[in-house]
Amino acid sequence: MNHTDDPYALTLEALEERVNRCTQCPLSETRTHVVFGEGNAQADLMLVGEGPGEVEDNTGHPFVGPAGHKLDDVLASVGISRAEIYITNVVKCRPPGNRVPAKKEMEACDPYLEAQIALINPKLIVTLGNTPTQWLVPGAGGITHIHGTFIPWRGGIEIVPMFHPSYLLRYPSRSKGSPKYLTWMDIKKVREWLDEHGRNRSSDDV
Ligand code: URA
Repeated sequence: MNHTDDPYALTLEALEERVNRCTQCPLSETRTHVVFGEGNAQADLMLVGEGPGEVEDNTGHPFVGPAGHKLDDVLASVGISRAEIYITNVVKCRPPGNRVPAKKEMEACDPYLEAQIALINPKLIVTLGNTPTQWLVPGAGGITHIHGTFIPWRGGIEIVPMFHPSYLLRYPSRSKGSPKYLTWMDIKKVREWLDEHGRNRSSDDV
């Protein structure tokens, strides 16, 4: 049987191979590497960003540039390591100049994100910033209003929007009410939720 037209019928590895060859949108013409996503394929927690930046495009790995380092700090503050989670983006190829991906680009990439979510079957999805939040929860309020809220989604999955780590880089204050302070509150809620509901699967267990 030939499943090559149906991303949902592929394994995660086969899906990645397929995405690495993708030419469905113009971002494929300017990319250096496809940034498929990576992490624990059995994660309770999946993070979805907007799209690869320069360092990600150069390396093929998600969130490894300055925003990625900030994200690691946020996760580490509550003892979450990359080994426990899966990280990807709405679009798998870098939008030139780090612009927001166009709707058509996100539409072209959407079957890949949907297939990743179906294959990993996380319990919680943290969307980083407005773009992935609006993409997965159309009509959701702006990130400044809905960050840190648990939005029941499909199949028992909850979505928690959080500020994008690059936003935290622009606003370094830690004072009460600052984006950093609010993100710290949000990630603590994520930690508590995982402690209560998660299956606690780390890559060492699989
Ligand atoms: N910003 C994103 O949204 N994703 C990345 O992988 C890197 C920066």
